[in-house]
Amino acid sequence: MEEEKITFATTKNVFYNPEMRFCRSMSSLAVGAIGGPLEAVDAFCASGIRGIRYAKENRNVKHVTFIDIDQAAITLAKKNAKANRLKAGAKKGNVSRLAFETAADFLEIDPFGTPSPYLVDSFRFFNPKKSAYLSATATDVAVLCGGKVAPCMKNYHARPLNNEFTHETGLRILIKKIAETAAEFNMGITPLVSFSDRHYLKTILHASRSADDAYHSLKRIGYVSWCRKCGWRGSAEFPQSCQNCRSTGVEFAGPLWLGELHDAQFLKKMAQLNRKRGYSDKAQLGRMLSLMQGETGMPPYYYNVHDLCKMQKCVSVPKMDAVLEKLQGMGYDARRTHFSPVSIKTAAPYKALLAAIRGKG
Ligand SMILES: C[S@@+](CC[C@H](N)C(=O)[O-])C[C@H]1O[C@@H](n2cnc3c(N)ncnc32)[C@H](O)[C@@H]1O
Ligand SMILES: [Zn+2]
Repeated sequence: MEEEKITFATTKNVFYNPEMRFCRSMSSLAVGAIGGPLEAVDAFCASGIRGIRYAKENRNVKHVTFIDIDQAAITLAKKNAKANRLKAGAKKGNVSRLAFETAADFLEIDPFGTPSPYLVDSFRFFNPKKSAYLSATATDVAVLCGGKVAPCMKNYHARPLNNEFTHETGLRILIKKIAETAAEFNMGITPLVSFSDRHYLKTILHASRSADDAYHSLKRIGYVSWCRKCGWRGSAEFPQSCQNCRSTGVEFAGPLWLGELHDAQFLKKMAQLNRKRGYSDKAQLGRMLSLMQGETGMPPYYYNVHDLCKMQKCVSVPKMDAVLEKLQGMGYDARRTHFSPVSIKTAAPYKALLAAIRGKG
């Protein structure tokens, strides 16, 4: 098997999903953009392809330790590391147990489904550190972005919202849970890059040890409210009633992370690295990084232009560029979003957005 010029072996009984190449490339760009010498731990390593790519593609990775509960995975990861001339540590066992005896500057957690039960353990890897990086993947998109409240309450202590911007609220619920866990370890978080792609949600964030930082992160937690009747949405510390049609049928998602999903400077560094690397997904990575840069400073939700048109019974759906230009012409910032190709982010008042969609204003 080959992925981005790394040759490695796979076996029938060890997990490998070639479709996650994009996620691995995005994450490897993030590892490079962090800089500084990193001691990386690829927990849930399976074939070891993530850790191997991080170390081979980034000079700042000084050492990698592979962890997997499955002996076949550990044997394979060791073999793959050796074949790639990588000196790596390897520990067979449950990540929850090994967290007490392994330190990491950069921890990768890529379990099957939800990372939730492993978050407390993740912060134990950072016990000796003042500053560290957590890269977490969630493939339980049906829970984070689904219509069923109970599973999300159970795993994330938050209500999801099954609507047109569910992928953003799902991602923000995941980050909220990480912020809460970090705070218990006296750490604050700063998301560096966070995204939704196909069947997974991903965030890579910096954690810094300080009671003030921990408290500051918790202050970024709140709710996103949404009126099913008229399409209005808003965010605040507490759920709100509709500020447009005053309907009492407002729904909400949360508690969730209302802070930034990304650090704009960090994304710039990732984009620079991407331009230098010859990844197979170079163009797609570049597009996504640029869309994410546009998302910084914007509200914690987006508007699906098609859904809004349907809700507002518009005769036709305007072109995305026309809506963006109209809003910009009205003096409001408006951007595309990586979450959906037919959606926009804007802080424009809802009535102004509706006018722009109807070509008025
Ligand atoms: C989704 S796969 C990881 C894929 C890999 N990171 C990649 O990019 O190809 C999940 C892996 O976690 C391992 N695993 C599951 N539960 C674990 C636990 N509690 N501790 C350590 N490893 C675990 C499984 O054996 C499996 O190999
Ligand atoms: Zn309303």
